[in-house]
Amino acid sequence: MDVYHLSRSLLFQLNPESAHDLTLQLAKRFPLLATPWGGTSSSRLHCSVGQVRWMTPIGLAAGLDKNAWALDFFHRLGFGSMECGTVTVLPQAGNPRPRVHRYTDEASLRNSMGFPNLGSESLAAHLQNRPQDFPLGINIGKSKNATPSEAIQEYAELYDKLAPLGDWVVVNISSPNTPGLRDLQQESWLKDLFNQLRPLRAKHGKEIHVKLAPDMDDENLKSLASSLADLGADGLVATNTTHIPERGVGGVSGRLLRVKAHQKRRMVLQIARDRKLPMVGVGGFEDMNDVYAYWAAGGSTFQIYTAFVFQGPGILRKLEKGMDDFLSRAQIASLQTFLDLNLTERQKLIGQFGQML
Ligand code: FNR
Repeated sequence: MDVYHLSRSLLFQLNPESAHDLTLQLAKRFPLLATPWGGTSSSRLHCSVGQVRWMTPIGLAAGLDKNAWALDFFHRLGFGSMECGTVTVLPQAGNPRPRVHRYTDEASLRNSMGFPNLGSESLAAHLQNRPQDFPLGINIGKSKNATPSEAIQEYAELYDKLAPLGDWVVVNISSPNTPGLRDLQQESWLKDLFNQLRPLRAKHGKEIHVKLAPDMDDENLKSLASSLADLGADGLVATNTTHIPERGVGGVSGRLLRVKAHQKRRMVLQIARDRKLPMVGVGGFEDMNDVYAYWAAGGSTFQIYTAFVFQGPGILRKLEKGMDDFLSRAQIASLQTFLDLNLTERQKLIGQFGQML
């Protein structure tokens, strides 16, 4: 049994949130703990998302390190980028515990956290000395009781305060655990939001992505993605967790989200590619089959959360090796060269050289 699997069997004796808090405290205090698992410094897997260059196409998804405590640790571990948050203007406690549930046999989690975080002041303080060579997204959300019009003011305030401290900002309107949040995925509200954000976007120059939920029918999702392109969003993130009523409150992530997230991402990708908007994939990624399916549908970079909890840092090395071997078999010098190909060429190469295991 390797060190991660030994630590995992101990951590999994704890309830999921205590295991998470303990790991994050250790990661924050002892970033060098990441060293034995550290990643490659090869530039072959560098790739671009809008104006930001990721070190590899694998990012750490929002919610794992909400307050940006352990940037140095995740950087050393070899993530290609990370998204901190969701952060709200003021600190908030989130929903009562227990609010994270682990389905070990199904490699999935269900959470109803409700954005517990230390607030934007604290995040800003943490980000003053962040590692500059580690691309960072800042995921922003409305506070629990904000009305739709108050929410617009909060997103604008968060963008204005935090955009200068990160590389891009993600507007979260898709978590299932904040009352009324998903109702904001409608065009009239988004129009008002972007009217407020546009001058601030011009002032700070940091791209604004919008994170979408998978629980919307295909036509509405495509129309939302198109509206966001019209309104001036710089990118899309798909998807957040899914609500599965039989499992209970909150949002489900990991393997139980995998098929739905992939199917919804394909819808969003059709629009994103037509409108030349970058899209970051998230939801259910756990092995190279997911990556090939995503690339074949037109995707590029992606993020992981739940598979990282279940597989540990080994997942990064496994996916990097899978991508590197694929490029070697296809005799392509760099990942960006592959991602710049058109869809037909990509699919042909994946059919020929992508080993679907
Ligand atoms: C999340 N996720 C999340 N997303 C977000 O935008 N803001 C957040 O604060 C959180 N918080 C959060 C907490 C927990 C415990 C989990 C498991 C997830 C969603 C996350 O970023 C991602 O979109 C989903 O988990 C789907 O990806 P995976 O986990 O299937 O790789």
